[in-house]
Amino acid sequence: MRSIWMDETRSTTSPHTTPLPDGAHYDVAVIGAGLTGLTTALLLARAGLAVGVLEARHVGAVTTGNTTAKLSLLQGSRLSTVLKHRTRQQAEAYVAANREGREWLLRYCEAHDVPVQVRDAVTYATTAKGARKVREEFRAALSLGLPVTPDGGEELPFDTTAVMRLADQVQFDPMDVLDELAADTVAHGGVIHEGVRVTSMSADTSVRLSTSAGEVTAGRIVVATGFPIFDRGLHFAKLKPQRSYALAYRVPGDTPKAMYLSLDSSTRSLRTTPVGGEERLLVGGNGHAVGRTRSEQAAVDGLEEWTQRYFPGAERTHTWAAQDYEPVSGVPYVGPMPGGHGRVFVATGYDKWGMTNAVGAALALSDLLLGGNMPWAQQLYRHGVSLADVGSVIGAGAAEGVYAIKGWAQALLQRPGEPAEGQGVVGRGPRLAPVGTCRVAGELTRVGVVCPHMGGVLKWNDAELSWDCPLHGSRFAADGTRLEGPAVRDLRRVH
Ligand SMILES: Cc1cc2nc3c(=O)[nH]c(=O)nc-3n(C[C@H](O)[C@H](O)[C@H](O)COP(=O)(O)OP(=O)(O)OC[C@H]3O[C@@H](n4cnc5c(N)ncnc54)[C@H](O)[C@@H]3O)c2cc1C
Ligand code: FES
Repeated sequence: MRSIWMDETRSTTSPHTTPLPDGAHYDVAVIGAGLTGLTTALLLARAGLAVGVLEARHVGAVTTGNTTAKLSLLQGSRLSTVLKHRTRQQAEAYVAANREGREWLLRYCEAHDVPVQVRDAVTYATTAKGARKVREEFRAALSLGLPVTPDGGEELPFDTTAVMRLADQVQFDPMDVLDELAADTVAHGGVIHEGVRVTSMSADTSVRLSTSAGEVTAGRIVVATGFPIFDRGLHFAKLKPQRSYALAYRVPGDTPKAMYLSLDSSTRSLRTTPVGGEERLLVGGNGHAVGRTRSEQAAVDGLEEWTQRYFPGAERTHTWAAQDYEPVSGVPYVGPMPGGHGRVFVATGYDKWGMTNAVGAALALSDLLLGGNMPWAQQLYRHGVSLADVGSVIGAGAAEGVYAIKGWAQALLQRPGEPAEGQGVVGRGPRLAPVGTCRVAGELTRVGVVCPHMGGVLKWNDAELSWDCPLHGSRFAADGTRLEGPAVRDLRRVH
């Protein structure tokens, strides 16, 4: 599966990458070349610091290259969620951070000729329950100073039960932005090393990183890996990995012009994108916790069915999936990592609103590293613990426990089987270790399916042909190569 932004016409090697030299040392090493990492790297390189970006795969490989890239302050039910979890001042700081992120990115795109399209953002519902959520979000948005209106959605090919609109938001191709940020970072003396996976760290008077291509030392590091790869901040208890799907279509007739998001139980996200003189329609949704659905392919099929019902004759050109991390506290985790001696910084937890939040986080982190003072950042990223947080952590921990036990019990009770094409099964292997067997393009492969992060038993993803962890969202290719998430090692091949 490849997103419309990273389809076969685009090379997966950035023209700006260079091999990691022996004994590399940077003022700041940034781990991860998504929107968070590259924006932070550019801001620090512009300030004259020696910056090295270490990227396990390639620029945009994980969430940013597979997003739907709506740059919007209208964010589903985000504002009412933030108000439930945090103080009003923090909710105001959340809007300020997102506004700063959006304005910075807009100015950047304009200055660097990166194309964007200005569109209204519309949140809607088609059910009574969804309508209550829309109305709650409408009140939250108004109270936080957003000029929302109770209209929109006239161009949708179905009835709605509630709508709200925020005019003049923006959409773009996220790889255009990443390519420009990468080029600009290098032009300011930074370096980007693709194919360098960081596997461990020690921090005291400086930071030492072990990587797949040798050791790197740095004065400070920024962990911009989506789910943080180091556990010192106990993020595994505070982030819920959510995977969802996106399909691109050539549609006969008119496509809706605005950017849409529904607040019904099965979310639908719509936007368009220009491709060679025509407008393609992107349809997203059917999200679920990573590794916790019966069939990922069923989620894709459900979106296809929905699209054919409302846009008959639509011809699918791309199918892809990605994941982002929902913070139990309702707002992103950005700042120094506990136990990092003031040298390790982290940014995560954007809950599918990273186009604004990642840039906000990068502005806050660069400010922190360069000694500035951003009042909204100090307000927003100061995480006290609320009662709602405690409830969410307990709930997440309990669900995790259930999946951990279920995974081990099923693996121990089953004998390894011989799956059909495109399928994978888990069974009891030598010395009772769970082994996964899958068949892809006719080839049978066996890997140990105990997650190298914290021992969850992996589940086969029948849409993306990968092994996914139901505990904290690490994912591995059919041959065991690590793809994303907090795990840093590949799976062991079993012969
Ligand atoms: C389906 C979907 C749709 C979305 N749509 C929107 C939207 O419309 N608007 C919006 O605002 N947000 C949206 N988001 C959210 C947004 O895309 C993300 O929040 C954002 O892209 C995260 O950027 P990032 O740089 O933090 O992470 P990433 O882009 O995931 O970058 C992290 C990088 O770190 C690298 N890495 C990981 N581990 C290591 C390691 N050990 N060593 C070295 N490198 C490593 C990875 O390879 C990766 O390239 C969406 C998310 C999803 C899942
Ligand atoms: S990702 Fe944590 S146990 Fe698998």
